[in-house]
Amino acid sequence: MFRSWPIGPAIILVALQISIGEKSCVLWSSAGPVVLNGSTFDVYCTYNCKSKQYIYSGSPPQKQSHRVFNDTTIYLKIFNLTSITTFSCQCEDSHAPDPCGQDISIGYPPACPKDIFCDYEIQNLRSGVVNCSWDGGQNTSLLHHFVLRVRTVSGNATEGLLQFSVSNKEPKRLSVNFNMSRSVDLISLWVHAQNSLGSAVSAAVNYTLNDIARPLAPILGQPDCSSRECKLKVEQSLNVSYLEIQYRADHQQWNSNTSSQTRSIGSLEPYRLYHFRARSKFHSGFWSSWSSNVSGWTQEEAPARALNVWIVRGPDSKTMTVLWKEPSVSISRGKITQYTVRVSSPSLNLIVNVSADSRNYTVPLCSHYEVTVWAHNSKGMSPPATMTSLYTEGKPLQDVRATMNGNESVTISWREPELTPAMYVVELYPEDFLLNEFRWVWRNKSETTADLSGIEPNKCYEGTVYVLYNKSLVGKTRFNQVAALESKPERSPSFEAKDKGNKVIITWKRLPRKFRMGCITQYTIYIEGSTGYHENYSVGASETTLEIKDLSPDIYTLWMTASTAKGEGPKSLKGKVPIKQDNHPSLLLEYLVAVLMVLLLLCLCQSPVVKQRFWELFRCLMLDVVPDPANSKWAKECIKEKGRLSIQLLSGGSTSTEKEEDTNLVDVEELFKQTTDTPLPTGDSTQLISRSPDADLTTLMYPALTTYIKSLSHDSDTNTTVDYISSDGPENMEEREDEDVFGGMSFLPSQSIFFTEMLQFDGKLTLDAVKIDCSDMQIT
Ligand SMILES: *[C@@H]1O[C@H](CO)[C@@H](O)[C@H](O)[C@H]1NC(C)=O
Ligand SMILES: *[C@@H]1O[C@H](CO)[C@@H](O)[C@H](O)[C@H]1NC(C)=O
Ligand SMILES: *[C@@H]1O[C@H](CO)[C@@H](O)[C@H](O)[C@H]1NC(C)=O
Ligand SMILES: *[C@@H]1O[C@H](CO)[C@@H](O)[C@H](O)[C@H]1NC(C)=O
Ligand SMILES: *[C@@H]1O[C@H](CO)[C@@H](O)[C@H](O)[C@H]1NC(C)=O
Ligand SMILES: *[C@@H]1O[C@H](CO)[C@@H](O)[C@H](O)[C@H]1NC(C)=O
Ligand SMILES: *[C@@H]1O[C@H](CO)[C@@H](O)[C@H](O)[C@H]1NC(C)=O
Ligand SMILES: *[C@@H]1O[C@H](CO)[C@@H](O)[C@H](O)[C@H]1NC(C)=O
Ligand SMILES: *[C@@H]1O[C@H](CO)[C@@H](O)[C@H](O)[C@H]1NC(C)=O
Ligand SMILES: *[C@@H]1O[C@H](CO)[C@@H](O)[C@H](O)[C@H]1NC(C)=O
Ligand SMILES: *[C@@H]1O[C@H](CO)[C@@H](O)[C@H](O)[C@H]1NC(C)=O
Ligand SMILES: *[C@@H]1O[C@H](CO)[C@@H](O)[C@H](O)[C@H]1NC(C)=O
Repeated sequence: MFRSWPIGPAIILVALQISIGEKSCVLWSSAGPVVLNGSTFDVYCTYNCKSKQYIYSGSPPQKQSHRVFNDTTIYLKIFNLTSITTFSCQCEDSHAPDPCGQDISIGYPPACPKDIFCDYEIQNLRSGVVNCSWDGGQNTSLLHHFVLRVRTVSGNATEGLLQFSVSNKEPKRLSVNFNMSRSVDLISLWVHAQNSLGSAVSAAVNYTLNDIARPLAPILGQPDCSSRECKLKVEQSLNVSYLEIQYRADHQQWNSNTSSQTRSIGSLEPYRLYHFRARSKFHSGFWSSWSSNVSGWTQEEAPARALNVWIVRGPDSKTMTVLWKEPSVSISRGKITQYTVRVSSPSLNLIVNVSADSRNYTVPLCSHYEVTVWAHNSKGMSPPATMTSLYTEGKPLQDVRATMNGNESVTISWREPELTPAMYVVELYPEDFLLNEFRWVWRNKSETTADLSGIEPNKCYEGTVYVLYNKSLVGKTRFNQVAALESKPERSPSFEAKDKGNKVIITWKRLPRKFRMGCITQYTIYIEGSTGYHENYSVGASETTLEIKDLSPDIYTLWMTASTAKGEGPKSLKGKVPIKQDNHPSLLLEYLVAVLMVLLLLCLCQSPVVKQRFWELFRCLMLDVVPDPANSKWAKECIKEKGRLSIQLLSGGSTSTEKEEDTNLVDVEELFKQTTDTPLPTGDSTQLISRSPDADLTTLMYPALTTYIKSLSHDSDTNTTVDYISSDGPENMEEREDEDVFGGMSFLPSQSIFFTEMLQFDGKLTLDAVKIDCSDMQIT
């Protein structure tokens, strides 16, 4: 039945009811259907049904508490109405005819039209088009009717009156166009505005048409360009006094050249696309509108300057890469067709042409080169850019620092050197020297900073600043690593742990770049025994191995982490490494035999008789070999006949964890037969380090001994590493642990030691006199 009534349909419905004569009532407002915003008025309803009736308003319609005017009429007082409202009236009787209704609109009367402005576009010799516009005033939310009245004056008499209507609801500038003969000299015009609530008239405005005349926009023909100048064809329907031509390259600012006769634009750059537009003006009046744009390319010229070239050596130093930057169009002055690279050294002179999209050229680095690069375009080639890979190391820069500058750019700064430099070059590349992301910038001598943008987040950058004092004196300084939006590493490196006796050797690969999330500052290795032992070791980001020594037998759990400046990454998977006690009997025996033989030889060498025998036996062979044996230190020290030897025999080193290699400590103490009264130095038998009165003696002696032992161990099937212990103590030992014992000692073969010693004695002894006292030998 009675529903929410949209404004439009309400009126239509009422109209329909009236037309079919079935209206149950009549509704009207005391102020009419359109009222001033905020009005207070009455709404009346006169009905002809018998039942009780009501006035409704709003959407959805709501029953209002009306007052009674007389027997057939009720009314409703409306206060301060501020929006368009639908009123309706209905009888309660369900059989009553349809209701009646009315929309009451609100609004304001129009304001005076203002800011009237006209121009007169001259079409031809006889007529033009006047365009007049004005400000219709504020929004009144009611439909406005505007009437523009124009009085024309031609010469001194003729008058005409023109009238143009325009309706609009929107508060915007309104305009009308009308044809106007060129015989008219003056116009006088004003605007009427009207709506349901009132009307207003603007002030009259007088124009002399010549003062508002404008030519039609000129028409430009295709420009005809050389490398620096473009000539334009301009079509103009009438004689104009001024012509303004504007031009710009790409999307830069427009540049102007105003003059009456100019049809050519000079001072242009080669090989650019220029856009042109023009407008014209009579002696008086306004500028025409702009012509549509025309465009043309200026022609090419040979490249203006030498390329920006830099040479880098590959990380392996086996290759050298010449890099250059694509020249900007102001330097290339044309489309680069190819580059020519000349690499010359005393032994080589190589000239290659590479394609226009190349930016690098790599040559093997065999000697120092001079590299020259040229760029070509259709009009010629650039001046040569020459770099040499040969330079003297000059004084490096001080205080070279890289700091992030926001999240995308890095600032590299340095202190001005004492010596005046010629130039600086700043290199920047992601960690690990990725050549395809390598960047460099030149800085002149007055600058001490360089900003490089385009820094990718979570990537570690590093680089070098070169100071070029002159062409061949260059100082270089690396700067600290930087990263944008750094965070903790996402992963930890996976590692491998090998047990080797009582040591564990942990090796890992550097964390893959994508997991680093910045610059790795350190790796931390954690080791934990089953009985509460725990330790951690931090190593530098460049390390890939760690050795943990002196572990007591246990099963150790290992894991590691990587850290950036933002913190430590997650733990790696844990690995278990057992360290066991070695009780390999046969191996022990072998060493025992070896040690006994060494002892025997050492004892023998104390006896002058034996020495003599040996000497006689081998003199003929060895005389040439030993240059001055008598003066050798070894020979002198050997007579002292004292010393204590202790050898640590370590077996192990196999990668297999199942076949555990156990530590085998053999502590040997030798007692030599005393030929003098010097007491033997006695110490605790578990001493690992041999003590000798003279360090030189032992360092020379033990290589001989270990060599011998080692040669034995070579015959055994097991993987045995023999470490020798120097007299310097365990610190020294540490350094030498992974050395090849043979390699390091090859300068002193074992035989020569023996013969050297023998030379000390003259032939008086016999083999019978040899006595060995080995009774005190201990093995633990
Ligand atoms: C009630 O008032 C209206 C409006 O003034 C009038 O048209 C109508 O005749 C009146 N009715 C009676 C019964 O007086
Ligand atoms: C209507 O406006 C007048 C003044 O503008 C105010 O005094 C009056 O209270 C308002 N009436 C209602 C019902 O809002
Ligand atoms: C009428 O006036 C009120 C406040 O006085 C305002 O909020 C409202 O927008 C006005 N309505 C129109 C159609 O201008
Ligand atoms: C009259 O000129 C104004 C600008 O000056 C323009 O916005 C308007 O469209 C023109 N009117 C007609 C009818 O061309
Ligand atoms: C003018 O005012 C009416 C009522 O406030 C509103 O509906 C209409 O959107 C307004 N028009 C403009 C162009 O602001
Ligand atoms: C203008 O007026 C002068 C006299 O006042 C008259 O001689 C002349 O013919 C008039 N010109 C035109 C075009 O009516
Ligand atoms: C002006 O007159 C020309 C014919 O002379 C006509 O084609 C054109 O539509 C007219 N323009 C206006 C705005 O009345
Ligand atoms: C405009 O011209 C009329 C005659 O056409 C004149 O009466 C009126 O004063 C002039 N108005 C102005 C502002 O010059
Ligand atoms: C333009 O002016 C020149 C003289 O300045 C004249 O010879 C020519 O006829 C004029 N052209 C037009 C279309 O008015
Ligand atoms: C304007 O054009 C004249 C004549 O071709 C020329 O001499 C002048 O340099 C130009 N000015 C500019 C800004 O292009
Ligand atoms: C060298 O140029 C080739 C393309 O010519 C490019 O694929 C490669 O990444 C460049 N190498 C470097 C180190 O810039
Ligand atoms: C000895 O060790 C090396 C490396 O440490 C290994 O390659 C080799 O297989 C081992 N030999 C035996 C017999 O275990």
